[in-house]
Amino acid sequence: MINENTLHETITARYEGEISVDCVLSCGSPLEQLNIKPGEVILDLGCGKGEETIEAAKLTGPEGMAIGLDLTEAMIMQAIANATNENLKNTVFTQGDIENLPFKGNIFDGVTSNCVINHAQDKNKVYSEIYRVLKFGGRFVVSDAVTKYPLPAEIKNDIEAWAQCFGGAITEEDYLEGILKAGFGKIEILNRREYKKNGYDFISLTIKAVK
Ligand SMILES: C[S@@+](CC[C@H](N)C(=O)[O-])C[C@H]1O[C@@H](n2cnc3c(N)ncnc32)[C@H](O)[C@@H]1O
Repeated sequence: MINENTLHETITARYEGEISVDCVLSCGSPLEQLNIKPGEVILDLGCGKGEETIEAAKLTGPEGMAIGLDLTEAMIMQAIANATNENLKNTVFTQGDIENLPFKGNIFDGVTSNCVINHAQDKNKVYSEIYRVLKFGGRFVVSDAVTKYPLPAEIKNDIEAWAQCFGGAITEEDYLEGILKAGFGKIEILNRREYKKNGYDFISLTIKAVK
């Protein structure tokens, strides 16, 4: 087990360095398949610079809203600046940890997340938190990096690899099993693309689960 504070510091240091770089940090297009309707309340976990939160807020319209949550303060500041530039009034950005969501009730119609949960050590806690904050009938559409086979111990213990969306990836089976264990009835696989990363077999997975 990696020290949680050190992991968060390493992840934050990586993403602070990405603020001024125009690079793609996503691993799928979960928002397209969330089918957001006007008036809905949407949560974007690990929102980064807020591009998808902003898109979600436009789809909900002014009668709905989108909340972006991210561990890295610099990402949150950039997301707020981006939403302000677009003159959007129905976005909220908050710094937080996907393993401990700062929401009391089940208030969300939809939860999305793009290439983030691989960073979390306790993925089952993340899935439970998502289940907890979703309304009954609410849906969760996530894209993430998973592996075909378990990664070796030297990668799993490499904190820099965790920060690079690599060392924390678990197998597709474990990922799906964790979501089912959190209480979701069934999982729909929306997109699945295999690729190699540092010589290992990875999958970019987009899935949907309904509470
Ligand atoms: C690969 S980037 C993806 C950003 C955005 N979703 C996108 O697609 O552009 C991962 C993001 O997750 C955030 N993150 C990593 N671990 C987190 C955690 N435990 N809680 C909240 N956010 C986290 C990072 O700060 C970073 O902004």
